[in-house]
Amino acid sequence: MTTAVGGRERLAQVVPDALDAIHEVLKRHQVSEEEWMAALRFLTEVGKADEFVLLSDVTRTSVLIDALSHGDDESATATDVEGPLYRPDPPWREAPVKIYEDYDGVEEGEVLFVRGKVTSTDGTPLPGAVLDVWQTGPNGGYDIWDERQPDFNFRGRFGVGESGEYELQTMIPKPYTVPTDGPVGRYLDAIGQHPWRPAHIHFKVTADGHEPLVTQVFFAGDPYLDNDTIGAVKESLVKAPEKHEDEAELREHGLDSPFFTCHFDIRLRRAR
Ligand code: BEZ
Ligand code: FE
Repeated sequence: MTTAVGGRERLAQVVPDALDAIHEVLKRHQVSEEEWMAALRFLTEVGKADEFVLLSDVTRTSVLIDALSHGDDESATATDVEGPLYRPDPPWREAPVKIYEDYDGVEEGEVLFVRGKVTSTDGTPLPGAVLDVWQTGPNGGYDIWDERQPDFNFRGRFGVGESGEYELQTMIPKPYTVPTDGPVGRYLDAIGQHPWRPAHIHFKVTADGHEPLVTQVFFAGDPYLDNDTIGAVKESLVKAPEKHEDEAELREHGLDSPFFTCHFDIRLRRAR
């Protein structure tokens, strides 16, 4: 909801209804002064801890807003929520794109190549597209949490080839918990909601003349696909990585243990 000129009209439409809804709930549950003050203290702490995006995510409000904003145009790749862990200006990665550096712990992971093609919804290749991806390492941690990882590890921006094709080398991420050490973590504990997310890779994709896409890719068989704490899993975004163990293929990729590949084509809507 914008607050720029013209936003006033929108505020006048939405805010009274929002207040009516809140007042109705307060009346229905006969909420006391003490309970209301506790709620206000909680929201103050959420603000101080910079956890409003996280609160929006775990209450499934971000998923709702994503659906309202993008509809369900099946000709385009499904959108998904961004979450609070995106870092702007990640390193530009030249081809062959590898989004991580070796670090103490990397050997615990399994190499994954994600490949696909970026096109318009009518199939036209988009050679000027730029991908920006971020994910946890194989130990379930983002670079900002895992002290062993170099800064901006498992993050990166890169371009695509002349036919819109791309390939990136990463490692299969693992399920992880959203941050639980702040007020939102206490809220989850209080309402008995677990903090786990299924493993995923985040994508932001841009191309001239097209609507930017923010989405995530998930992996078949993950134990949290049906109960993601932010409710963001969409069937069309669940992929099944294929395992490669053939010696010649391993040599070709300079690897000494089995690796996985996964296909993810990306279709962008033309800007309206
Ligand atoms: C994430 O996927 O990065 C994320 C989403 C919601 C809350 C916390 C993290
Ligand atoms: Fe994430």
